[in-house]
Amino acid sequence: MHTNRLDTGYKMLLSNHHVLRTKPQNLPKLNSRQFRLWEDMLEKRTGVRITLQREDHVRTQIAQRMCESGWVDPDSYFREVLETHAGPREWGVLLDRLLVKETGFFRHQPSHNFVSKRVASLVTNDRHSLPLNIWSAGCASGEEAYSLAVDVIEGFALSGRPERYSIIGTDVSHEAIARARQGVYQRSSLKNTSTIVRENYFSLVDSQYCKVLKSVRQKTAFFVANLLERKPRDINQMDLIFCQNVLIYFKRWRRRDIVNYFQDCLKPGGCLIIGPGELLDWEPEQLRRIDAPGVHAYEKLRV
Ligand SMILES: C[S@@+](CC[C@H](N)C(=O)[O-])C[C@H]1O[C@@H](n2cnc3c(N)ncnc32)[C@H](O)[C@@H]1O
Repeated sequence: MHTNRLDTGYKMLLSNHHVLRTKPQNLPKLNSRQFRLWEDMLEKRTGVRITLQREDHVRTQIAQRMCESGWVDPDSYFREVLETHAGPREWGVLLDRLLVKETGFFRHQPSHNFVSKRVASLVTNDRHSLPLNIWSAGCASGEEAYSLAVDVIEGFALSGRPERYSIIGTDVSHEAIARARQGVYQRSSLKNTSTIVRENYFSLVDSQYCKVLKSVRQKTAFFVANLLERKPRDINQMDLIFCQNVLIYFKRWRRRDIVNYFQDCLKPGGCLIIGPGELLDWEPEQLRRIDAPGVHAYEKLRV
């Protein structure tokens, strides 16, 4: 690995500042009506449903945030977020704590192998227009998008053509996008990657952290976008959309809407890759399943 000067601010961003500061017994209690209000708001605004297993966690996060900002009455706090001028800002803070942002590098290796091979076969054809446009939708703190960068670079290397690609990572969480833009990660998060990946794509920050190389970061742009809003408009003509561990949180009708949106964003012949266990239980109009063992990939029809 290359070595790098330690920049200030990294640790702040990486540290977990959602740790509970108030003892659980001193937190305000939300009754079930109050909890449902938040649950509905989260679902309406992001599509994400709260599973039974996460209910306690979500309750605690809301109560903790109330304490931090001096609220005692759950109804007043809800109205503040819903109705006041300051509401959207407060919602942004709270949202970061309510979403599941679990992620990692090369989380589903067969999907990443598929991407490398797909890129190699696309760009081996001289007539395929470059740069390749790749989208990591619901990218959390960026590990997925940077893993895709590695796949793409390796795909170009297999084809023998010089790399020309651009990757966009989007997420509804501001905090996640801020972290993705930094491209700084705990070295332990790379423990399942090969030495080649660690040495060729990361530089050392210090004994604990490493950073994605500038040459890769420069081709990877991150921005906040809500998949329910079908924005931003400049995401189109994608060669590849990678969306894993996101659709599972949505109701079926929302999943359909989002997959329809993905169809519109793909080039003819472009490819959608979703996560294992996220198999679509309907036939999207313009997509056909690609036969790739263990991978849930679809190609947009060329007509
Ligand atoms: C479990 S993480 C998965 C991250 C990454 N795709 C992976 O597989 O490692 C789910 C991500 O989806 C994001 N998300 C949830 N609802 C979203 C929405 N409506 N629009 C955009 N991103 C959303 C969350 O903020 C979170 O970062």
